[in-house]
Amino acid sequence: MKFLMVCLGNICRSPLAQGVLEKKTQHLNTYVDSAGTAAYHVGEKPDYRSIEIADKYNIDITKQRARKFSIEDFEDFDKIYAMDINNYNNIISLARNDSEKNKVSLILSEKDPNTNQSIPDPYYGGEKGFENVYYMLNEVCEIIKNKLEKR
Ligand code: 4NP
Repeated sequence: MKFLMVCLGNICRSPLAQGVLEKKTQHLNTYVDSAGTAAYHVGEKPDYRSIEIADKYNIDITKQRARKFSIEDFEDFDKIYAMDINNYNNIISLARNDSEKNKVSLILSEKDPNTNQSIPDPYYGGEKGFENVYYMLNEVCEIIKNKLEKR
């Protein structure tokens, strides 16, 4: 299974989501990547606060570089997870058919379906926001891993 994690800048939330799911599903033959709906930070490393929180949990995300979401991603990935409702709406607006639309979900819908919950954007906040993002991602990626193991 190929998973794509998508946020706005691809420097805070989705690189962490990529690192967390990669680590949890190494044994399941998954491929995980991430992208942003905006191009502001293309080519950059993840935000130092995401690098630090990942490192705290023994996940190395320093080799990641930000890229923008592209419509080819609909072909290259089996599942596309949006971090928040704006990212979700942006990706859906680029989908060309129902098959592409059906690949896209809000990541937190794996935990609480039909509640439209978002991973809050931590960019303008402090370190606590990143700890919270890690906590939410760790919890939902565990659910994704468990579902994959049952397939
Ligand atoms: P991300 O966070 O979408 O989780 O990577 C952001 C990063 C950068 C900006 C906004 C959110 N920005 O406005 O530059």
